[in-house]
Amino acid sequence: MNVNGKPYRTIWLKEGEPRTIQIIDQRNLPHEFKIENISSVTEMARAIKEMHVRGAGLIGAAAGFGMYLATLEAEKSEDFERSLQSSYETLKSTRPTAVNLVWALDRQIDVIAAADRISEKIRIALESAQQIADEDAAFCRRIGEHGVELIRAISQPKDGEPVNILTHCNAGWLAFVDYGSATAPIYAAHDAGIAVHVYVDETRPRNQGARLTAWELGQHGVPHTIIADNVGGHLMQHGMVDLVLTGTDRTAVSGAVANKIGTYLKALAAQDNDVPFYVALPSSTFDWDIRDGVNEIPIEQRDDEEVRFAEGLCEGQIKSVLLSPGTSPAANYAFDVTPARLVTGLITERGICDANEASIRKLFPEK
Ligand code: MRU
Repeated sequence: MNVNGKPYRTIWLKEGEPRTIQIIDQRNLPHEFKIENISSVTEMARAIKEMHVRGAGLIGAAAGFGMYLATLEAEKSEDFERSLQSSYETLKSTRPTAVNLVWALDRQIDVIAAADRISEKIRIALESAQQIADEDAAFCRRIGEHGVELIRAISQPKDGEPVNILTHCNAGWLAFVDYGSATAPIYAAHDAGIAVHVYVDETRPRNQGARLTAWELGQHGVPHTIIADNVGGHLMQHGMVDLVLTGTDRTAVSGAVANKIGTYLKALAAQDNDVPFYVALPSSTFDWDIRDGVNEIPIEQRDDEEVRFAEGLCEGQIKSVLLSPGTSPAANYAFDVTPARLVTGLITERGICDANEASIRKLFPEK
């Protein structure tokens, strides 16, 4: 997608420096657009954990490139296998909820193990990291192609009036390698001349909606309005939302979806008001080992400082301010699980299906 008219992905191999990965450091967006060089497993693990990069697909791509860096480090160590395994564990321990992390790590471990010589292992790890990134971008583009038909159908009786879409958090191109999951159908609709308007949940405590989704949509010229997290129910009651469209960090075989905290409440409000609630995901976000979701998906808890403080631009500098009484503790649950019964459908790279096991397996029979 474009930043000030120039096309970017969220992660790539640095031109002319095959031992360096470049990322967009998302921590200071939208106020500062910064590219960061990553040259070690430690740096990649920190970038994932401290959310320089974030979002299910991008966490997976970062893990893929992290394992490439791991092969470079293992080559210089005394014991290649032990060094590789230790890097795997380091990367795996960064964030628990998005399944794309372990999916990409395991995929890398398998291809590296299948190669013979160390030089071959390094070559294949890079090739496979690039494949993971390319696939993520291609799958998100296809999610857009399928999802746009949903938006087109909703727009038809509206006679040119915009389709109002509510989204939560950032399941945009910044959360993937390109296009995004929830945003791909929105960008495709906008590009096809279908009038859309997006209500962007601010998404406390880290404000991925207000900071990232709003910035992305603005860069692409998509009309949008940022709303406080608690506004969605009111809008739905008053017929102001035609469609809720979110991403997911891990999807159970039942169709239950773990997504950014607050998604569940939006799904409840959507059902109460007969608003369709769709979730967009590449197949790398399915966890084929988890059936139910609510009690099985690990939910990340982050530092309480993210709740007690808010960050923003102040006199040209990014500053953090205390919101609450200094002595009050806070809890910071980062994700919740929306049960399948509240999900109208899943938009994948292979098409749209109902949020139930039979329908999911029909699209992915090989699983
Ligand atoms: O904590 P984050 O920012 O990594 O959370 C990920 C998200 O942006 C959302 O949960 C998103 O809707 C799904 S990831 C594409």
